[in-house]
Amino acid sequence: MKPTITLPPYPGELEDWWWKQTIQQWPELGEERILNLLRQEIVRQSDRFNKTRDFDPSSYGARDLSILAYGNFYSPRTFAACGYALAEAFDYRGWRAPGKGPIRILDLGCGTGASSLAMLYYLRAWGIRNPIELDAWDYSGKSLTFLRRIHREANHLWPDTRVLTERKNLRHLDDHTAKGGYDLILSSYALNECWEGSEEKERADTIIHLGNLLKDSGYMLLIEPAEGEVCRSLHGASARAVKENDRLFIQAPYFNSMPCPLWQTESKYFSHEVRPCTPPQKVDQINQRLNLEIREVKFGMSILSRVRPRALPEKSGMFRIISPVRKRKGTLSLWGLGVDGIEREYEWQRRNLPKEDQKLLLSLQRGDLIDCTGNPEQLVNRARLKKLEDLSPKFVPRWKESI
Ligand SMILES: C[S@@+](CC[C@H](N)C(=O)[O-])C[C@H]1O[C@@H](n2cnc3c(N)ncnc32)[C@H](O)[C@@H]1O
Repeated sequence: MKPTITLPPYPGELEDWWWKQTIQQWPELGEERILNLLRQEIVRQSDRFNKTRDFDPSSYGARDLSILAYGNFYSPRTFAACGYALAEAFDYRGWRAPGKGPIRILDLGCGTGASSLAMLYYLRAWGIRNPIELDAWDYSGKSLTFLRRIHREANHLWPDTRVLTERKNLRHLDDHTAKGGYDLILSSYALNECWEGSEEKERADTIIHLGNLLKDSGYMLLIEPAEGEVCRSLHGASARAVKENDRLFIQAPYFNSMPCPLWQTESKYFSHEVRPCTPPQKVDQINQRLNLEIREVKFGMSILSRVRPRALPEKSGMFRIISPVRKRKGTLSLWGLGVDGIEREYEWQRRNLPKEDQKLLLSLQRGDLIDCTGNPEQLVNRARLKKLEDLSPKFVPRWKESI
């Protein structure tokens, strides 16, 4: 299916930059010893993200080894997740750069800047020429130092951009005086850490507070790892925030400012994206003994804005793909969540489809936005379609290299 927007891959310069810092840190060690150090640290970090969940300023932002392990291994993936979320805001949800003057961005829990830099990189890749000013906040001063250095040393990747870092604890956002007037507010893989142990009201209040820092035309992108509890907590807080504040709307993942229905029905499934992500060579090399999933990026996302999302009629054929495409004996099928908030299975008989069309359907991804323009035979929660042309892609982001 033809992409509606393309993303250039993670820049090789960043991969090289992180590896260079790493070998300079331990000049006396050979490559294999260094790779093993990183592997041990990645196992520790993965346990912290998934099992122990103990987060404080010393978690992984206080030691060089932690920062270098994150920079080499995790950064390409959060960079990709951020690229996809921004692509949706830009390509489908109607975010626009101001006509003139700088674009102002705030990144909360920026760490060493994978997500901050992805914003700068992709805005430039999509032809946005405004100067960009980015405020980047984190409680790890060491991480912020790395962010400033990468930004400076690879500045040809994001010309005419300025980064201002500040050491702040996001748990006490209300105590911080921020100027507001942001075009984009971003938090990527960070809120779940500072929200650990918090109540829904507190989380919703944070989102409302951030909404007040947006320009009227501004958008907020909240990205979290695809873990059930974390995503449910994000969608619950977003739903409560828009309920309690009539100047805030949910743009994504669904339609008409609808909160995530999977969260509302306490479904055992949860909303998240699954997108391919070609790992840089170094990630592949580090992963050789770890066997972690590195070819996909999975993330939950909530995009909010102060402008109302475009209104789609309840009977519209628009849906978001929420499952992999399945190939069974005689059929191809996928699940989508529509404007009416109902999960529906879309199904094709394979015998009716040319091979080339089957291949195109199999290339659809969880998170793609599709308009079903055909006139499907409607069964309960199921739509039977006849041909590929029954679908019209509305948001189908793809890596540039794979066109
Ligand atoms: C998994 S990293 C994500 C970094 C970056 N946003 C990315 O997308 O790769 C989480 C970041 O959140 C920061 N963080 C967690 N809790 C925080 C808090 N209460 N205040 C400030 N920063 C926090 C950590 O220091 C860390 O840099």
